[in-house]
Amino acid sequence: MPALAVVGAQWGDEGKGKIVHYLSRGADFVVRYQGGNNAGHTVVFDDKTFALHLIPSGILLPLAHNVIGNGLVVSPRAFYDEVKMLEKRGVKVRGRLHLSTGAHVILPYHILLDALREQSGRGIGTTKKGIGPCYEDKVARIGIRICDFLEPNTFKSLVAQNLKVRAAELVRIKPLAAITKDVFKNYDRLRRFLAPFCRDTSILLEQALKRRKRLLLESAQGSMLDLDFGTYPFVTSSNPITGGACTGAGIAPSAVTGVIGVSKAYTTRVGLGPFPTELEGNTASYIRNVGKEYGTTTGRPRRIGWLDLPQLRTAIRVNGMTSLALTKLDTLSGIHPIKVCTAYRHKGKRLSDFPVSRRAQLEVEPVYESFPGFSGDISGARRFSDLPLSARAYILQIERWLGLPVSIVSVGQSRDQTIIRDKKFLQARNIN
Ligand code: IMP
Repeated sequence: MPALAVVGAQWGDEGKGKIVHYLSRGADFVVRYQGGNNAGHTVVFDDKTFALHLIPSGILLPLAHNVIGNGLVVSPRAFYDEVKMLEKRGVKVRGRLHLSTGAHVILPYHILLDALREQSGRGIGTTKKGIGPCYEDKVARIGIRICDFLEPNTFKSLVAQNLKVRAAELVRIKPLAAITKDVFKNYDRLRRFLAPFCRDTSILLEQALKRRKRLLLESAQGSMLDLDFGTYPFVTSSNPITGGACTGAGIAPSAVTGVIGVSKAYTTRVGLGPFPTELEGNTASYIRNVGKEYGTTTGRPRRIGWLDLPQLRTAIRVNGMTSLALTKLDTLSGIHPIKVCTAYRHKGKRLSDFPVSRRAQLEVEPVYESFPGFSGDISGARRFSDLPLSARAYILQIERWLGLPVSIVSVGQSRDQTIIRDKKFLQARNIN
């Protein structure tokens, strides 16, 4: 059975955690392929809330295996803390969580460098988890991978080499001796803790695919934070789009046969950078409060805007989406009218896709269409027909405009607050 990718269609925080958790009932392997503990996936089930940053949300279901692929950057300390948190809450982790030996290691000085850059006045609003500096080392070919971390002598000599390259910048924050001490603090303990989880996960997934196991590929960030197709330079340092799953998990493109894009019924973003449909004032505050729009990882208030179709069209194109999951429809209840950006106007031209130029991304003017809103509590809706007429009209029109089916609609945080419009698709994956 092939792989199904679940990707963020906007700037992250679309509710991928819930959708992945929902779909992981029909998956044998849930795989993260990029990013690190910058991600924040909130999953609510059995009245319990879990905030996951590094470990795939499939860990919350007893049967699925979970893979942290080679495309990630992994802080051994963050890995330890998250495993311990899950175990403390009764989740069985050992034997079901597999960490790629090819993933790169985030060390304490990557976090220092991230903070330093952010304070320099040229920051982009990162999560300050050391993600960018660690990927920089990877691309500069001075990175340290999990396989190196597991070999004390190799690790020691690579850290020494790496710190030499970084010294000029690092000594502005702390003496090199103190930085080295931080790197080796609890090293042996962490190394021994990590070792049983580590393996070549590309081989593991190849074997799984040969045995016709079902893979669910989980992106950590949204498409507009993609290093190549996002709002560069206000992006993360990896590729959350579907293509990133091949390089970041070590599977062939031909294995991916379905791509679900997850989008809110409106738009949010955290961090700096262009956001054409951004709203200020009462409507933004209302949505932020009702939708609890604060970052899972950093607690920052999220910026709020209307649904943006040129942005979504771009995400659909670069991901090869086969359907959409529309989340947080319930948050829009009580807003009249609801607006949707159907195109941009720029220098006298009408644009139907997100422009590449950073200047144009700031200059575009959204063209809006208005919808009558809907009222009342829709969080109890379980079928499409349970939704108010104007909520249905909103979804049907989005489908028409985007030329893509909305197969899942989410009306609340819990697993059961989900409307499945494509029952066949789910049956094919044994999800009910
Ligand atoms: P970094 O990934 O920490 O380097 O941050 C780069 C950009 O991606 C910043 O704008 C962050 O706010 C954003 N970002 C990273 N992870 C997430 C996430 O999980 N949700 C939303 N935004 C994120």
